[in-house]
Amino acid sequence: MITKKGIIIAIDGPAGAGKSTTAKLLAERLNYKYIDTGAMYRAVTLFALRNSIEPTDIEKLVELVKGMKFSFENNGSILFVNSENVSDAIRSPQVSDRVSEFSKIAEIREILVQKQREIGADGGIVMEGRDITTAVFPDAELKIFLTADLDIRAYRRLIELKNKGLNINLNDVRGNLETRDRIDSSREINPLMVTEDSIVIDTTQMTIEEQVNFIYNKAQEIIRSFNQNQSHRN
Ligand code: DC
Repeated sequence: MITKKGIIIAIDGPAGAGKSTTAKLLAERLNYKYIDTGAMYRAVTLFALRNSIEPTDIEKLVELVKGMKFSFENNGSILFVNSENVSDAIRSPQVSDRVSEFSKIAEIREILVQKQREIGADGGIVMEGRDITTAVFPDAELKIFLTADLDIRAYRRLIELKNKGLNINLNDVRGNLETRDRIDSSREINPLMVTEDSIVIDTTQMTIEEQVNFIYNKAQEIIRSFNQNQSHRN
């Protein structure tokens, strides 16, 4: 009998909707693992840029991605790739500006989706990104689509970047989010979209605490019946 460690909570949504902060706090409260899949696409972009590999050079990209070993530490807030802590480097404007170009490549997605499924297979996980509810874990027990108005997302992201010491202005941040949303939602492979069974949460007027509480309460309901099912099966 396979006993899963818990349910799978899949969270998708556009850039800057508060997915990472919400997912991380939720995972802490549930004592679940937190995985930021955007960080993996960002790391691929970082490594491609460092090695001057263009998005058109699929063969080199596949070789690169296959050689990348991802490991999340510190409850998902630090990403190591091949033992290098890339957490700060992947948030640079250079990476943000190019990440959508690399993440629309089918061959890259195939490898990363496979890795993400392996990471989450045992359950007890909160995974966030753009295609978690649609492609990575379409059978997740709880699916959330987190969104907010573009202006508020841009403002929140600006504060976040400024707190990290980056010198950047609101217009640039807004422009980057807008462009990424367009590419991420219109690409051929696993575009960002809302599934019928996702709970849509518009966080424009919500605090982080309200978002976390809302999802936590939903999760608790589902975990209760999940636990009952597990004990019946064993
Ligand atoms: O979550 P983020 O903004 O850090 O993600 C960076 C980019 O990675 C985003 O613009 C699209 C891509 N991405 C993706 O295509 N699929 C995912 N599951 C997660 C992110």
